[in-house]
Amino acid sequence: MSAKKPKILVIPGSLRKDSFNKRLAKIAMKGAEDAGAEVEFIDLSDYPMPIYDGDIEEREGIPENGKKLKKKMIEADGFIFASPEYNSSISGVLKNAIDWASRPSDKDEEFLIAFKGKTALIISASPGNLGGLRGLVHLRDILGNIFVHVIPEQKAIDTAHEKFDGECLKDEKLQSSIVNLGKKLAEITAKLI
Ligand SMILES: Cc1cc2nc3c(=O)[nH]c(=O)nc-3n(C[C@H](O)[C@H](O)[C@H](O)COP(=O)(O)O)c2cc1C
Repeated sequence: MSAKKPKILVIPGSLRKDSFNKRLAKIAMKGAEDAGAEVEFIDLSDYPMPIYDGDIEEREGIPENGKKLKKKMIEADGFIFASPEYNSSISGVLKNAIDWASRPSDKDEEFLIAFKGKTALIISASPGNLGGLRGLVHLRDILGNIFVHVIPEQKAIDTAHEKFDGECLKDEKLQSSIVNLGKKLAEITAKLI
């Protein structure tokens, strides 16, 4: 780990209180924390914002919560995204947050300042048999196109309704593998900052 502590922002793509993805994100977050990163968990339900609309943007700029989230993303060195899969893709709420955060606050702002050069770990959980894997394919593509270095390692937890015991995964090996992904992200990020 470099002398600098990487800042990792943890952003699950679900609003649901008992979300599997929120729980999964917290497991990976522990790994990043254990590896010495400064971590912050974001609940997107604390940042309600309208669906991106160019007319709203022209009239009022980025909504207040979009600005708050974007500021945190600018300050972060890396992200842990845990996204539910909805109809084979990422959740609308996560895509919307990414869309607003990708918008410039003014004409002099550095292009894609909240994303460019940052790192990301992507993980998912679903009661289905693929664990949200198809959504992760889209998420990797979206993030790569906005210049985020998504680490090659990822994990999709299938049949999630059977795999969790409260906040933890029942299978210790699986639990460790997610903790280790968070650790790996922190280590890679530390090398880059
Ligand atoms: C509109 C909608 C579409 C869904 N589509 C998929 C899907 O394509 N693949 C899948 O594995 N699960 C799908 N699901 C089930 C979600 O994986 C499940 O609701 C999951 O618990 C959501 O994540 P969360 O627990 O983090 O909120 C869908 C659920 C909803 C509400």
